[in-house]
Amino acid sequence: MSDQTWLPAGAPERTSEAPAGADLTDAIEAPSSHHTVPSKESESYTHGHHESVLRAHRARTAQNSAGFLLPHLRDDMSLLDVGCGPGTVTVDLARVLAGGHVVGVDAAPQVLEAAREHALGYDNVRFEEANAYELPFEDDTFDVVYAHQLLQHLSDPVGALREMRRVAKPGGLVAVRDADYAAMAWYPESAGLEEWNTLYHEVTHAYGFEPDAGRRLFSWVQQAGFDVAHLVPSASSWCYATPTDRQWWGQVWAERCVASNFAVQARESGLADDVALEQLAQDWLAWAQAPDGWFAILHGEVLARV
Ligand SMILES: C[S@@+](CC[C@H](N)C(=O)[O-])C[C@H]1O[C@@H](n2cnc3c(N)ncnc32)[C@H](O)[C@@H]1O
Repeated sequence: MSDQTWLPAGAPERTSEAPAGADLTDAIEAPSSHHTVPSKESESYTHGHHESVLRAHRARTAQNSAGFLLPHLRDDMSLLDVGCGPGTVTVDLARVLAGGHVVGVDAAPQVLEAAREHALGYDNVRFEEANAYELPFEDDTFDVVYAHQLLQHLSDPVGALREMRRVAKPGGLVAVRDADYAAMAWYPESAGLEEWNTLYHEVTHAYGFEPDAGRRLFSWVQQAGFDVAHLVPSASSWCYATPTDRQWWGQVWAERCVASNFAVQARESGLADDVALEQLAQDWLAWAQAPDGWFAILHGEVLARV
């Protein structure tokens, strides 16, 4: 099924100007001077905002999700967080930039409500609904433009990076970080988790997204027109191996397999049915029970000087 060329209902059409991520890996091309802007309505965010998804995202902090950026921040800077989700990293960054200001934007109004609630008491952070491809800001507005786990969910990550660069000040920074699903590693061996990882790739590819974004960020940033001499690529990881972390991570994914938008898209695209998804949920719970269970997620990161 993985080399299918059809697209399910609701999946964005692939065009030569918004290629699937797989097509982007082979060559670093000069950015085209014109490109179609995907609308946020034309794309369907794989995870959606089910409680199980938000529970995973709320565990994110500036330390565990923006460590590569923190040494470059100054108290008085302005920062834009694109695809901010429930805003825990955004608010943490606002704490760091106590003398500056932070704006979080996301395409989903419901998750912005959660972000605003989380930000109560902070007067240097605000949230707005916006599409990463058409940011509602003047050129050269922000000292730092940051996106965490966003580009893997876009059909045109290079277009979004160009837009991020547009709103960053000359001399400012664009900072991006994304997981890489093919580089995820776990123990004990589990045929169920292998199937889950394969299905995740099939579903995201069917909808025009690239789940192995981490390894591609350095290439995408160059395709977006950043000067390679001003890029700092790096990698970092998350690890779930304590009983508490394992329980939390296994439970989160067990629920996501049956109740999140991932489950909806897996069914819609005919890649899995309820029985298969329920089995994957059970496999996640079984993995979480293993006293020597270990799971690591590798992320790609790039700091790009504008
Ligand atoms: C995996 S979440 C990451 C949230 C947050 N950055 C974090 O790490 O916790 C990706 C977010 O990107 C948002 N998103 C997806 N497509 C978008 C677009 N075209 N423009 C703006 N936000 C988008 C989704 O609504 C979702 O909240």
